[in-house]
Formats: sequence, structure tokens, C-alpha cells
Amino acid sequence: MHRPGWAPEAIDIERPSVARMYDYFLGGSHNFAVDREAAHQVLAIMPEVPLRAQANRAFLRRAVRFLVDAGVRQFLDIGSGIPTVGNVHEIAQQVAPAARVVYVDTDPIAVAHSQELLAGDDQTSVIQEDLRAPDRIVANPVVRDLLDFREPVAVLLVAVLHFIPDSDQPHAAVASIRDALPPGSYLALSHANIEDIDAHDREAGERVYDRSDSTFVSRDTAEVARFFDGFTLVEPGLVWAPLWRPDPGSNTTGAEQSIMLSGMGRLGG
Ligand SMILES: C[S@@+](CC[C@H](N)C(=O)[O-])C[C@H]1O[C@@H](n2cnc3c(N)ncnc32)[C@H](O)[C@@H]1O
Repeated sequence: MHRPGWAPEAIDIERPSVARMYDYFLGGSHNFAVDREAAHQVLAIMPEVPLRAQANRAFLRRAVRFLVDAGVRQFLDIGSGIPTVGNVHEIAQQVAPAARVVYVDTDPIAVAHSQELLAGDDQTSVIQEDLRAPDRIVANPVVRDLLDFREPVAVLLVAVLHFIPDSDQPHAAVASIRDALPPGSYLALSHANIEDIDAHDREAGERVYDRSDSTFVSRDTAEVARFFDGFTLVEPGLVWAPLWRPDPGSNTTGAEQSIMLSGMGRLGG
């Protein structure tokens, strides 16, 4: 099979990857035919997915700005994805040039492109790791080198936890990362909730993801809220992405269409 020049050797380009499908939904070019085909199957069922991806990125941008304004200078972005417009380090360092960011992703394409983008940047780095192995992330020498766990750290889990089924214990993984953080740290996350989508469409969409490198799992508000155990939710709490501290004047009509429950919590003390 033809392997484009930018693809690392050790990847499976026969199976759709959720990172590359998301890149395609956002208009990126780091995806293969197999990803585009799966993405089109999703789009045939849910044509609004690109708008949802954009609403999710907009939440991420507002969350990072909020965190920088709150004085946070260290970011651990897990499930960071293939670099796109408005990456976390770009948003944070625009306002706080000293901000430090470590990106974490399982996807080799996401990691390879992040490495390329970050070459020569000594405040931002990327590691290939798995959220299901939180202890390895927290102990990783690159993470420890760049982030000082005696100072507040913002952990970003944006549009990633819905790729981890309960059998892989995502709540325990988040709790384990929380326990490594000092007071004043934050958790920002978004998570898909598709319970209001027509059951037939929902199942058809889930079947496409079943063929990808990740399983998709929707969770309700109570299950998503449980990821914030030990944190105090920042106003306005856990809401649809466009409703989380919208920019003044923005139109938030139909916010539930985003399907992304979004929120931020702070560790007390
Ligand atoms: C939908 S993208 C989200 C990217 C970015 N956080 C955003 O919201 O724009 C999900 C990302 O999570 C990554 N991912 C999925 N499962 C993961 C896991 N267990 N550990 C780390 N990353 C994971 C995928 O490779 C993909 O890049």
C-alpha cells in the first residue's frame, strides 16, 4: 500500500483511527482513505459532526484561556490529537509566554506531528502514552522534566474519555491522576453524550467506531460528573460545550446539538 511520506512506519493504516477521523472532521489533511471512508459513514448518519468538533475545540480554547487567567502555567493535555489550529501551547503561550505544556496521545500520527511541530520548543513536549496507564504518564521523565507537580497543573481530557469503556476503568484512571496533583490544580474535560440521538442512528454510528482503533461510549451527566470526584466544579458546572463560559455575544442556541458535556473542576486547598 502507498504510504504517504509523513506516516511513521509502525502504524496500522488499514484500520480507521479516531485521531485521524477527527482530523478529517476538522478539515485537516493527516488522514488516510480508510479514515475518510469511516468519517463519511459517520457523516451520512450525523452530518453535524464537524460542527460538534468545532464546538469542542472552541470549548478547549475558552478553557485554556480561563486557566491562564486563573494563573495556571502548566498543562497536561491527554488525548491531545493531531495538531490543528489553536493548539493548547499556542493559546496558553500567547497570554503567558512561560506556560509549559505536555501533550499525550496513543496515536502515533498525532505524536509524530506534534513532535514535528514542537521541534526546538523547550517549553512544550509530547509523549506517546495511554490514559489507561495513568501512573506511567505521571511518572514519565518528560512530564516530570517539564511540569513541576508542586505547582498547580491543568489536566485536559478533552473528547477522549468517551473512547475508554468502563471495563478499562476510566474513572479510576482520572482519580489516579488527580491524586498526583497539588491543590489549586484543575481538570477540564468534554465528553460525548448521545442519549438524545435517535437509537437507530446512535447504533449505526457506534458500529463505525467499533471498526476503528477505539470503542465509543456515551455517558450520561451523572457518569461524566463522577470524573470530577474530589474537584469543585467551576461555574457554570457541567454543561453543553457552547454554554461553558461563552464568549460575549456568541449565539448558544441549540447548544445541546454539540453533544459534548463540558466542565472544569478545581482541586481545593
Ligand atoms: C477526538 S480526539 C480529541 C483531540 C483533542 N483533545 C480535542 O478535543 O480537540 C481524541 C484523541 O484521543 C486519543 N486517545 C484515544 N484513546 C486514548 C487513550 N486511551 N489514551 C490517550 N489518548 C487516547 C486519540 O488518539 C485522539 O487523538
